Amino acid sequence: MSGNTIGRSFCVTTFGESHGPAIGAVVDGCPPGLELAESDIQADLEPRRTGTSQFTSQRQEPDEVRILSGVFEGRTTGTAIGLLVDNVDARGRDYEKIKDRFRPGHADYAYQQKYGLRDYRGGGRASARITVATVAAAAIARKWLRERLGLTVAGYLSQVGPYRLACVDSAAARSNPFHCADPEKVPLLESLIRDLRRDGDSVGARVTVTATRVPPGLGEPMFDRLDADIAFAMMGINAAKAVEIGDGVAVAGQRGTEHRDELTPQGFASNHGGGTLGGITSGQDLVVHVSFKPTSSIPTPGRTIDVSGQSAEVATTGRHDPCVGLRAVPIVEAMLLLVLMDHVLRHRAQCADVASATPDITR
Ligand SMILES: Cc1cc2nc3c(=O)[nH]c(=O)nc-3n(C[C@H](O)[C@H](O)[C@H](O)COP(=O)(O)O)c2cc1C
Repeated sequence: MSGNTIGRSFCVTTFGESHGPAIGAVVDGCPPGLELAESDIQADLEPRRTGTSQFTSQRQEPDEVRILSGVFEGRTTGTAIGLLVDNVDARGRDYEKIKDRFRPGHADYAYQQKYGLRDYRGGGRASARITVATVAAAAIARKWLRERLGLTVAGYLSQVGPYRLACVDSAAARSNPFHCADPEKVPLLESLIRDLRRDGDSVGARVTVTATRVPPGLGEPMFDRLDADIAFAMMGINAAKAVEIGDGVAVAGQRGTEHRDELTPQGFASNHGGGTLGGITSGQDLVVHVSFKPTSSIPTPGRTIDVSGQSAEVATTGRHDPCVGLRAVPIVEAMLLLVLMDHVLRHRAQCADVASATPDITR
């Protein structure tokens, strides 16, 4: 009911707030026998970390993960895996100024109206700090899916403000702070972010993530369609405002002859659908786009009200991301991994002994 859990067979519950002592996850349903060390998870946490470049929040968190349970002699036991990451660089005093007033565009007002109180330090539970838990949990899914199925998930920044960014070199997305797969555009992004900081403003962005070697058959008709679960998971990321699969919103302008992905014995002739048909994976690459709104905590003063409902002004200083999308690639990857892992286990439960007479044209 309270919305802290995702997945049915690979079930992840997260806890923690921006300025609490720690963030954590409980991962229930992981198959036994997976070799798992903290270093496996650490490798996935690194690309999400703050304080690693001048273009993101300067909060210095080492994000060192501890495995508290569910692993014995280096392998998962099949029992609940507890993961914990300490918060070591929380600075609550930065938020004293917004204690009694609401940042426009942030979760402050809605949390106050829902719960009657809020942890104003760093946005509390509405902080992107909590995504450290989902990324840690998804690192387990990533390892299992890669080792058992050869499935991989990789993303890149596909738009920042007015600039569309192509995937020229997917490996490059791992070697610059923007997760930009078009290395020639990195200087443009650097100056865009510097200008935003100078102007006290922020900007939106879009992230694209692709899963390859996805088995056909994942997802269930109607409300548990794979694309429905992907959209659900992605909209669970802070600041996410739109999710698209394949050609996404562009389908509204397409003709059937253009959009349909024709089948040949050698494979599908195109992938406008983004990897699902009827909410079930076709075996093609899954292609997912998520759009993020601009950061709401900006130094430019804006109109608001205080907790008593009186007009007020708010300007947010402190350590903030000028563009949340720059840090979102590992988080979008994580959410897709969690959904895929859950559906692989669900498919295995119901359809493990199904053999289709039709050859798999995607392999
Ligand atoms: C990776 C990432 C980093 C973020 N960094 C900030 C930030 O530095 N400052 C801020 O005000 N919001 C930041 N946000 C956004 C807030 O967490 C989010 O906008 C807020 O909870 C309001 O909720 P909503 O946008 O989901 O409606 C970030 C979001 C993500 C995904």
